[in-house]
Amino acid sequence: MYDSQKGLVSNRLYSQIDMHAMYGGVVPELASRDHIRKAVPLIRAALDESSCGPEDIDAVCYTAGPGLVGALMVGATVARSLAYAWNRPAVPVNHMEGHLLAPMLEEVHPEFPFLALLVSGGHTLIILAEDFARYKILGESIDDAAGEAFDKTAKLLGLPYPGGPLVSKLALSGNPKAWKFPRPMTDRPGLDFSFSGLKTAVANALGHSDASDGVKADIAASFEAAVSDTLAFKCARALDDTGLKQLVVAGGVSANLRIRNSLNDLMKARGGRMFCPRLSFCTDNAAMIAYAGLRRFQIGQRAGNAIEVYPRWSLEAVSL
Ligand code: KG4
Ligand code: ZN
Repeated sequence: MYDSQKGLVSNRLYSQIDMHAMYGGVVPELASRDHIRKAVPLIRAALDESSCGPEDIDAVCYTAGPGLVGALMVGATVARSLAYAWNRPAVPVNHMEGHLLAPMLEEVHPEFPFLALLVSGGHTLIILAEDFARYKILGESIDDAAGEAFDKTAKLLGLPYPGGPLVSKLALSGNPKAWKFPRPMTDRPGLDFSFSGLKTAVANALGHSDASDGVKADIAASFEAAVSDTLAFKCARALDDTGLKQLVVAGGVSANLRIRNSLNDLMKARGGRMFCPRLSFCTDNAAMIAYAGLRRFQIGQRAGNAIEVYPRWSLEAVSL
């Protein structure tokens, strides 16, 4: 729950990671059934933690997309039902706008305009954020998202889902220069990404080695370095193109320390500044949706009568 005066007054998270790990990835039907079980108790816990009652709530915000349709439908239906019962407006929020604005939850935060690198399980985006609700996509992945590349590499290395945190943990004991993996699309103009070739490079490396723990650590470190260098290369180009001095890095993959450090170094070297949310706000969370929802509420946006969700929903479509 977010208060426009006091800031974040409560925040609860229930993670489905253990369930996803059991199946080696997200099973959409199981994810949405679990949403049904967990949503109401979690909302109750957030209300208790804030010591607010329904009478203190001005609006109910919910993620309307992009994402898996079943899970979105559960969230939207619960949020809209509460709003109806409490006689309050509901405000749909774009998940990627949530990630983009997550650094605003911190005391030290960027001012518009800024550049944003959004790296999650489903998206890799370079965004020019001219102002609140004025976004331009400068670059995006033409195939796998950065998080997806981590998850697929993890699978090849025999690690459970989600791979990001485990690949980076394994990478700590490896040599990032042991394998020369490609830095995809850095030899071409533009700001788009392509990460699907990296998993082939990892598979080839595994096929050409004894795949001992030491070799796996080297492969993980070399893979992480390839992703990190590629992201930094494209960010530097986007900063050159736009002349901006502030870089927001958000989304699940921004929890990766090598990537955070490399982008922080990049911004320092350029006399600029990187803004990253705290680790728990890099990966999916309700606080960022509450904040984005408040901003949308303040400019008068409300959900229409129909309960609609948008599995694919570009940030440019929510630009004013
Ligand atoms: O934003 P997020 O929590 O969910 C989506 O909206 O997709 O991002 C999840 C993604 C997963 O692919 C996960 O492997 C990745 O973020 N991730 C990481 C790290 N922590 C999470 N990738 C690399 N290093 C990490 N430390
Ligand atoms: Zn996300």
